[in-house]
This record gives sequence, structure tokens and C-alpha cells, in this order.
Amino acid sequence: MGGLFWRSALRGLRCGPRAPDPSLLVRPSSGGPSWTRERTLVAVKPDGVQRRLVGDVIQRFERRGFTLVGMKMLQAPESVLAEHYQDLRRKPFYPALIRYMSSGPMVAMVWEGYNVVRASRAMIGHTDSAEAAPGTIRGDFSVHISRNVIHASDSVEGAQREIQLWFQSSELPSPEEFQPPTSVPFCT
Ligand code: PPS
Repeated sequence: MGGLFWRSALRGLRCGPRAPDPSLLVRPSSGGPSWTRERTLVAVKPDGVQRRLVGDVIQRFERRGFTLVGMKMLQAPESVLAEHYQDLRRKPFYPALIRYMSSGPMVAMVWEGYNVVRASRAMIGHTDSAEAAPGTIRGDFSVHISRNVIHASDSVEGAQREIQLWFQSSELPSPEEFQPPTSVPFCT
């Protein structure tokens, strides 16, 4: 038992620091390989904050391997919500959506990582809680589409627009200056 522990610990030391998986390297033609630094906006909506689900949401994203690069709690101004949901202006639920989103504090976050936009949409689950699979955030916590706990950007372009809307550039580290932790040793 003890021997097994030490063998595994020594193996960890020999393997050294975590190296990037070659499949994660992109833009080889832009002067050498680099990490994809995709970012997305995730917001815990007022019902999620009220139900004390912020910690669970953060834990899920951290355990998945994403990096939190920005976070703020705020009572969303209606002007910002109007811009955020501009494509939904003509939907019958729009007035109720704006009322609900401005009804209490929300927590806006920026998460970074490989394919984080697509992965976070999968993690939050279907918009309609009745369709959301168990194991997704909405599938585990939400019972109605109008109280669906969480928002995540639906495309890389949408994420860029939403991050700029909710965060000043000075509130976020630039990808160049921000080095995510790489201290976890691993072996393949
Ligand atoms: S739609 O109708 O297809 O454009 O809607 P969808 O893309 O599924 O969702 C867009 C956002 O609208 C919210 N939504 C609602 N809010 C309140 N009531 C109802 N009935 C409703 N239907 C959709 C939905 O949660 C999406 O918000 P975000 O913040 O992106 O989750």
C-alpha cells in the first residue's frame, strides 16, 4: 500500500510539469503553436443567486478544468439587459424576462478554456428545464424555462459581444498576461 503510494508519487515527479496536449495546439501558421484562449460569459441569474447555487456552478466549471478570469455580482441595469437580449425584443416573454433578470443580484463570470463556449452550453443544458438532461445545471436545478438559473453565451462571437457588454477590458486579464495554473503533473 505504502509502496504503491511512493511509486506513484515518484512517477509523478519523473513526469514533470503538465505539457500541452498536441491536439490543443492551434494556429500553427501564426508563428508557432499556441493555446486556444477561448472565453465565454456565464451568468448565474437572480433565481440561481437567491437559491445559493453560485458555489455549485463555480465548482462544476472548475472541476471541468476551466479557468475563472473575471467575476462580479451586480443588479443588472435594464439598459444592459436590453442590449444583452436585443434579439428577443419581439418575443412575448421579453418584458417578463427583463423584469426577472433585474429583480435581484446576478453573478456574471468570464470563463476561459479550450472550447469553453460549446462545453458550457452542454454543461448548462437545454433552455427549457423540462428538456434539460439530468447532470446539466438546468436539469439538476431548474423547473421552468422562465427561472432557468443560468446563462451561457451561445457562440464565440456572441461571447465576445457579451463579455464586452458586462465587463470593462480593465476588469479582465489579457490572454497574453494571464497564465492559467499548470502545476498539476500528469502522465499519458
Ligand atoms: S428563443 O425563443 O428560441 O429565441 O429562445 P431561446 O434561444 O431558447 O432563449 C433565449 C433566452 O430567452 C429565455 N427564455 C425565456 N425567458 C422567460 N420566459 C420564457 N418563456 C422564455 N423562453 C426563453 C431563455 O432562458 C434564454 O435566455 P438565456 O439568458 O440565454 O438563458
